[in-house]
Amino acid sequence: MRNESLHQESVPAALEGFRPTTTPETSPHADGTLVDKYGRHITYLRLSITDRCDFRCFYCMAEDMTFLPRDQVLSLEECLRIVRAFVELGVYKVRITGGEPLVRRDALWLLREIGRLSGVRELVLTTNGSQLEHFAEALQEAGVKRINISLDTLRPERFREITRVGELDKVLRGIDRALAAGLAGLKLNTVMMRGVNDDEFADLVQYAFDKGIDISFIEEMPLGAVDHSRATTFFGSDEALTLLRRRYDLVASGETTGGPARYWRVPGNTRSKVGFISPYTHNFCDSCNRVRVTCKGELFPCLGQNDVLPLMPVLRQHPDDDAPLRQAIVASMGIKPKGHDFNEQMERPKVVRFMSMTGG
Ligand code: 5AD
Ligand code: SF4
Repeated sequence: MRNESLHQESVPAALEGFRPTTTPETSPHADGTLVDKYGRHITYLRLSITDRCDFRCFYCMAEDMTFLPRDQVLSLEECLRIVRAFVELGVYKVRITGGEPLVRRDALWLLREIGRLSGVRELVLTTNGSQLEHFAEALQEAGVKRINISLDTLRPERFREITRVGELDKVLRGIDRALAAGLAGLKLNTVMMRGVNDDEFADLVQYAFDKGIDISFIEEMPLGAVDHSRATTFFGSDEALTLLRRRYDLVASGETTGGPARYWRVPGNTRSKVGFISPYTHNFCDSCNRVRVTCKGELFPCLGQNDVLPLMPVLRQHPDDDAPLRQAIVASMGIKPKGHDFNEQMERPKVVRFMSMTGG
């Protein structure tokens, strides 16, 4: 698959300066082609395959969302072309997200195809869990290595309030089914919200411990205009940690899974770790290794900024040639911002797109 002339053809002269002098040990690509101007190696792609979702979480979406018409959404073949191009440029971890990725028809076809690409070491998925009871075995067979499942509460009525339409039981059944299917590497993602679910953090940790899976708590990010003030609901990681320590003896573990989460463990419990993703209180932009592509084919080098490079025109103008696509991806390294500035955006988000658009 790897093309000898690839590096040359895909690094325009203007981008010479972004090329590394050393090869990162973590990247299988000899030239470490995807390096941004701050020297960060991009080895991780998060691809949203749909903006649709069967939930309407109030912190993620407006109640009356209008979704994209189909012709503005990448076909699954186009999604595969994008993933393949990134993998040829040294990306080895791919996360499929949404919206809710499993509501897209034939999502499994795409996952199977990606699972077959020789450069992909980690194929992972983010889901709201609503369809997991139907897909667990097939996901395991497709080669999905790890699944993040959003779970903000264990109370059915509260679950309904947060998701506006979702059914908690389905998600819990999905988690059990995924465990029964032998899917290792399940992780819960909990968005922390003051006055909404801050009385349940310890219960959610206990649930994760009982199931032998991981859990990460996420500070709510100012993405998209929602009906509530994020400054009111904001709950920081440090406070959450203090709260959890009333029930658990949490010890910083120092381990990393290549992402922004910092982890804690309870001595003697080797199965579960507790993570915190703290875009406000512990900025992690220095070690960012990822870019995102929306289901419209927009490449966003940063979740928290508006810089964008549209890949759809490149794909459609060159249906049989991926070289221009690779060139565009390399060029995007030049517009990857140094970081987000969520702290200045709590009350007035400058990123107008919802998380369901950029992909969680
Ligand atoms: N801030 C933080 N996390 C969010 N998610 C969705 N919107 C936000 C937001 N504004 C989470 C979901 C899911 C993951 C995809 O992102 O709960 O766990
Ligand atoms: Fe759907 Fe996830 Fe957004 Fe909730 S947070 S509405 S489950 S995409």
